[in-house]
Amino acid sequence: MEQKEAVTVLGLGAMGTALARALLAAGHPVTVWNRTPARADALVADGARPAPDPASAVAASALTIVCLLDDDAVRAVLDGVDLAGATLVNLTSGTPEHARATAAWLSDRGAEVLAGTIMVPTPLVGPEEGLVLYSGPATVHDRHRTTLAALGRTDHLGDDPGRAALFDLGMLDVFFAGLASFLHAAAVVGRDGVPAAEFVRYAEEVVAILPATFRGLAEDVDAGTHPGEEDNLVMDATALGHIVATSRARGVDPALPELVHRLARRAIDRGHGADGFSRVVDEIRSPRPRDAAAAPADAGAR
Ligand SMILES: NC(=O)c1ccc[n+]([C@@H]2O[C@H](COP(=O)([O-])OP(=O)(O)OC[C@H]3O[C@@H](n4cnc5c(N)ncnc54)[C@H](OP(=O)(O)O)[C@@H]3O)[C@@H](O)[C@H]2O)c1
Repeated sequence: MEQKEAVTVLGLGAMGTALARALLAAGHPVTVWNRTPARADALVADGARPAPDPASAVAASALTIVCLLDDDAVRAVLDGVDLAGATLVNLTSGTPEHARATAAWLSDRGAEVLAGTIMVPTPLVGPEEGLVLYSGPATVHDRHRTTLAALGRTDHLGDDPGRAALFDLGMLDVFFAGLASFLHAAAVVGRDGVPAAEFVRYAEEVVAILPATFRGLAEDVDAGTHPGEEDNLVMDATALGHIVATSRARGVDPALPELVHRLARRAIDRGHGADGFSRVVDEIRSPRPRDAAAAPADAGAR
């Protein structure tokens, strides 16, 4: 039988435990370490080997996966550990700047480092539904690709160790804006006695058109052209004004639609009213203090 690569997992929080489980399920010998040792007990019962300290854990396998709370925890755990010859895959989330600085810090201590971000919640970690984005040396990704596939699909995004975090945060940007706007809409319709559960399938109708809409926006953003034949900013700002007015009238915080309304108004005030919505990217790229030019939110029809 094929001998699977030995892997160490440092950090057995919710995600580290899911990673270790997926590796055990794929037949890898797995060594584990966690600051609070009791969190390793269930994994050890299922065949993982406990290491007494981070140094022994790293020494036990050619590949070490690090999944801790944050960048500070990574440094706290690995400070003073001899990493010469070790290969580390750091799946601790952070900013691109964190990822670059931590990769450099680990490299300075002798390790080869791949940075990654896990794009699924713990129940989806695994070869079927998992997705992990990686950046850093392609050689490290390619050498361990088969092992990493036990955690999910692997996308390698380039040599810059900050790139995976950059994409992660971009995806989270879209995710949280979507969640917040749904909650805002639920609060507005709720004030008129509509349960969120009744409204949600209409929200889903909007979500269904977003993929094609995003692709169109992406083309415009990259081309730097913002055709407004199908819809234009004056019309968009009118609709946004109606959302703000409806929120205000119901005593719901209008800050979310107000922000988008203000961005659209700014672009209009700079002479882009006939452009499509993608023109707003220029306003986002050039943040300005809240400008007085923003339309009064209850003006509605502006
Ligand atoms: N959970 C998810 O759904 C999910 C999804 C995608 C990405 N992630 C990312 O995965 C990483 C781990 O998340 P998690 O859900 O496993 O978090 P968690 O359940 O809160 O676990 C945190 C882990 O970090 C350890 N830790 C924290 N501070 C430490 C320190 N100063 N020294 C040593 N160990 C320290 C904890 O050890 P103790 O057990 O001793 O406290 C524990 O192992 C995070 O970067 C998170 O953003 C998580």
